[in-house]
Order: sequence, then C-alpha cells, then structure tokens
Amino acid sequence: MAVAAILAACSADLVPRVPPSSGMSQQELAGLELFNSGGCTACHAVRGVGGGRGPDLSRAGLTWDAEAVRAVLASPDDPRRHAFAHLTPEDLDALLAFLRSLR
Ligand code: HEC
Repeated sequence: MAVAAILAACSADLVPRVPPSSGMSQQELAGLELFNSGGCTACHAVRGVGGGRGPDLSRAGLTWDAEAVRAVLASPDDPRRHAFAHLTPEDLDALLAFLRSLR
C-alpha cells in the first residue's frame, strides 16, 4: 500500500499526465501515452492538465488532421514541426489519432 502510494506520487510529480477519456480507441490511447511520456504536457495543456508555454491543445482535433501535419513535416522551418520530427511513422499515426480525438 505505502509503496504504491509513493510510486503514484512520484510519477505524478514528474510531468502532468492527461488522463484517458472514455471511448478512446487503442491507437488513441497509445497516442495519449506518447503525449504524456514524450514531455508534451511540459508545455501544452489538454483539458486543464499541462503547462502553458505552448498553445492549449484541448481542441487540436479541429485543426490537426493528417494533411495539416504532412504540411508541417514538409516545412523544416515550421516551429510546429518540433512535436513530430523524431517520431516513427507508427508513433506519428498514434499521436495524430490522439490529437484528432481532442475536440
Ligand atoms: C518546450 C515546450 C514545448 C514542448 C515540450 C512541446 N511543445 Fe508543442 N509547441 C510549443 C510552442 C511554443 C508552440 C507554438 C509554436 C508556434 O506556433 O510558433 C507549439 C506548437 C505545437 C502545435 C501546434 C499548435 C497549433 O494550434 O498551431 C502542436 C500540435 C504541438 N505543439 C504538439 C506538441 C506535441 C505533440 C508535443 C510532444 C511530442 C509538444 N508539442 C511538445 C512548445 C512545446
């Protein structure tokens, strides 16, 4: 009990973690995990969880479809590329599925 409580407190302290919402697909959950483990919440908030250095992404699904990300990736100088530059195609798909679910 005590150990579990300490572990929970520690991982919660490292970076804010956006909780899953009901009805998310496996791919969206994988993307959420990438979002949480990738440090995105250090700068971006989703539904009130996360930092404020970058834009709030709570409604990212309204602006971030596959075409929008492809356009960003094709523009190496685009500051928004930061989020996608190091991802494998599978991880990119998952992160996008998660971002698209936010609306
Ligand atoms: C060090 C802070 C920081 C981190 C970490 C970070 N971002 Fe960002 N992000 C920003 C800033 C600042 C902008 C605004 C850039 C601009 O448009 O000039 C931005 C822009 C974005 C945008 C575009 C938002 C819009 O509406 O145009 C998306 C999407 C995004 N980030 C996703 C992510 C994801 C996904 C991660 C994690 C893999 C991440 N970011 C990590 C700071 C950060």
